[in-house]
Amino acid sequence: MKKTLLLVCAVASLHGLYSCTSGQPETDYTWLKNAVNSSAKQLEQTAAELGDSPLLPRSIWTGYDMDFLCRQLERDPKTFKDSLRMKPAAEALGTRRYCFSVRDWTSGFFPGSLWYAYQLTGSQELKREAVKFTNYLYPVREYTGSHDIGFMMNCSYGNAYRLAPADSVREALVQTADNLCGRFDATIGCIRSWDFGHWNFPVIIDNMMNLDLLFHVTHLTKDDRYKNLALKHAETTLKNHFRADHSSYHVVSYNNDGSVELKCTHQGKNDESSWARGQAWAVYGYTSCYRESKNPLFLKQAEDVAHLIMRSVKTDDLIPLWDYDAPDTPETPRDASAAAVTASALIELSTLCENGKEYLDYAEKLLQSLSSERYLAKVGTNQGFILMHSTGSLPNGSEIDTPINYADYYYLEALVRYMEVKGIDFQSL
Ligand code: GLY
Repeated sequence: MKKTLLLVCAVASLHGLYSCTSGQPETDYTWLKNAVNSSAKQLEQTAAELGDSPLLPRSIWTGYDMDFLCRQLERDPKTFKDSLRMKPAAEALGTRRYCFSVRDWTSGFFPGSLWYAYQLTGSQELKREAVKFTNYLYPVREYTGSHDIGFMMNCSYGNAYRLAPADSVREALVQTADNLCGRFDATIGCIRSWDFGHWNFPVIIDNMMNLDLLFHVTHLTKDDRYKNLALKHAETTLKNHFRADHSSYHVVSYNNDGSVELKCTHQGKNDESSWARGQAWAVYGYTSCYRESKNPLFLKQAEDVAHLIMRSVKTDDLIPLWDYDAPDTPETPRDASAAAVTASALIELSTLCENGKEYLDYAEKLLQSLSSERYLAKVGTNQGFILMHSTGSLPNGSEIDTPINYADYYYLEALVRYMEVKGIDFQSL
């Protein structure tokens, strides 16, 4: 009897499906192991290929067809105009697109991905590369021209401090947080997002993501000023950015007296549509705010947006179309980045509320879809990016159905969070 049991256990464990201590079926995490291995290899190869050139991979150049854009936006090709549309040279199409400088809003994601991959695998090579690429962003600590300094520095330097703390890293984070606070207007109660465009004081839902830098710096300095300002921004945004169905506008611009100038979109289908990544930024941002404040209004907002996302998705594999209101047609691009951000947010949300299982289950499905061959690139392909099929700014003709560095970053963050919640260690997979 004992011999038979041992034999069964030996065969079953070859397939990794049964626990011999409990006799219960074990979850098959082949997808997870493959996800981490492929991601680490892609990043190692890309970093090695770049050597000492201070370039930061951003995406793959794509073009666009005006009729296609108009079909997606349901606009008349005769009248459709947009001022910020990209015009990549024909020979650039299909090649790797780099950040235009460290001031590109996406500059922190490649270094941040290297940090997460190091955290997952323990690879010292990945750590060396993470340090090298993070150092390129040092000048950003003095930059004041965009709210995106939160993304840029917290994803690179923030992860550096978490995994390899050093005084100079801490100082860079504090200086950046001071600069981000400098963009706060006390009458309006918000941090200003952009310095370009025709708006008086634009605040975009993406700005919720910059608040984590301020929370981080309050933890580092024990100075509540950063956190309080972040929470004020979140309160004002809660008041003005959301519709009755809990979906978020992309841009809200304020008059100097704090009244709303206008509500519109810059990257969504139209002013009243639910741009997929915008909803992802919202659920992520309010989850962070609840984690830091325990204000139940922020938890409610995070859960309301989570439910909006779950009931709006139109695809079988749950990876959203680029806008939840985009035409549901085979040619409509998806946005893997929105799925990755949503997965990461929902995993954290699942740890903060009573009915967390529904969020964790949904996030798990998102991660399994992203880790399938439809989205996860084969090692050595995809110009070194991890995921395929994200959409950056369709109305502006930019980064349509292509890999993008922030999809990779939030995918890796979601894998880290998933493994923490499930108590899985990569070496044991
Ligand atoms: N923060 C800009 C974007 O989500 O595309």
